[in-house]
Amino acid sequence: MNFTQGRQSILVSRTHFNSMWKNGIFSLRNILNKEPNINLNNINENVKRLEYAVRGPLVIRAGEIERELKSGTGTDRPFNSVIRANIGDCHAMGQTPLTYLRQVLACASDNALLNHDTYPSDVKNRTKELLEYCGGKSVGAYSDSAGVEIIRKHCAEYIRQRDNLDADWQNIVLTTGASEGIRSILALINTSTSDPKPSGVMIPIPQYPLYSATIAEYGMHPINYYLDEDNQWSLSVDELKKSINKARSVCIPKAIVIINPGNPTGSVLTRENIEDIVRFAINEKLLIIADEVYQHNIYDGEFFSFKKVMHEMKATIELASVFSASKGYMGECGLRGGYCELVNFDPAVKQMFLKMLSARLCSSVLGQFALDCIVKPPEQGEPSFDLYMEEKDQVLTALKYRAGLVADTFNSISGISSNKVAGAMYAFPKITIPPKAIAKAAELKQAPDFFYAMELLESTGICIVAGSGFGQLPGTYHFRTTILPQNDKLEEMLNIFKDFHEKFVAKYS
Ligand SMILES: Cc1ncc(COP(=O)(O)O)c(C=O)c1O
Repeated sequence: MNFTQGRQSILVSRTHFNSMWKNGIFSLRNILNKEPNINLNNINENVKRLEYAVRGPLVIRAGEIERELKSGTGTDRPFNSVIRANIGDCHAMGQTPLTYLRQVLACASDNALLNHDTYPSDVKNRTKELLEYCGGKSVGAYSDSAGVEIIRKHCAEYIRQRDNLDADWQNIVLTTGASEGIRSILALINTSTSDPKPSGVMIPIPQYPLYSATIAEYGMHPINYYLDEDNQWSLSVDELKKSINKARSVCIPKAIVIINPGNPTGSVLTRENIEDIVRFAINEKLLIIADEVYQHNIYDGEFFSFKKVMHEMKATIELASVFSASKGYMGECGLRGGYCELVNFDPAVKQMFLKMLSARLCSSVLGQFALDCIVKPPEQGEPSFDLYMEEKDQVLTALKYRAGLVADTFNSISGISSNKVAGAMYAFPKITIPPKAIAKAAELKQAPDFFYAMELLESTGICIVAGSGFGQLPGTYHFRTTILPQNDKLEEMLNIFKDFHEKFVAKYS
């Protein structure tokens, strides 16, 4: 069969024709066009540019190695499993879910459980209370775009108790994890299409790659400011001023992102440092995006919310603060629960924000229920209280132990140094990479710390993320590891790591 179009002539064999017919892809367009309609030359350039190291090539390779090990083809490797220290995914690393939270979700999904004795009365009461606010009393119904009203009210109560300050539930929207809150806020302030210059967003370096990826996707401009590694990853106002002044010619600065406690740095900002940032944002007329998803993960120091500090400073600039069910002691990453609180926003802008959110209908109602169990845990005297507190304490105590263990162990290895892991779930140690290894990485067109991380993965099965995925001072090399492997696994991992590092240095010296 011969189809002709212009100078293009394609001969289609009978077998090929039959197979196209059978597979339902028979159309003149398929036959005549060599290129798919949507191809790499005409998709969104911003999407091509964006990178997300936490799930990048190292993690893809880790998946391949895991499959090899499972299928028996990787038996010549000196390890029999991959240790995934690359991502803050608590349950994937063996953390057990909170009983109360899962019982509420079980009853919410299978309402027949509400009539059985299997679960305590407070679980059933909470479930019934929440279901009252759901369409058809079902978690299968859409909620309001901003979330189930009673859950928003519980979030406001949580914030009120945390900060000893008023919180208006109508300023709180429930989101699909904190990620959606962050992405929505960035979308709201992005005027890149109408302004002569892109909207600029100040982000810490090192940063959590959701920010650089979303900024790239939206065609915004990242204004990188470096955190001070020699000073427990604190922020220096001089550095903030330097970076914004440098960026002003290429963008319109709109917001500053602060991650506290820090990812990947594991740092906790002091109150004074937060005050400095607030004063800076006031002077520069910036929205503060406070990523406070790790507010329960404090092992050293104290957590101060931006809202509270701003209130005490009588600052009236805009603040968007995000929280998540994925972190803390609950680690329910897969349920995708989160909230975003808007503070000091113009009501008209808030309306626009809500309108924008309504286009995505609502976040998962089960995720909203999960969030509810965190912002309003069982109270003293209720049947689930003791177990809830015990489970919470167990997780946080283990995380604190591991935070200390990780920093101490890395600091005991020559060529690696780590700041204290004061909060969050990560360490971001600095490594000295021998010149020969740097040269080898250049030969492979890889960043030196990526090369280091890949050698670690291939020879030990430990999967970490290279510092270059988060940003770092030029000429320095880092990696991020989580502190999430369970205690015995983490101890084993650190021993293997130490051995690897010594061999790596010897090999390339
Ligand atoms: C600093 C920070 N912000 C936001 C998120 C997103 O969390 P989620 O969307 O699961 O709530 C993460 C996840 O690791 C994070 O580390």
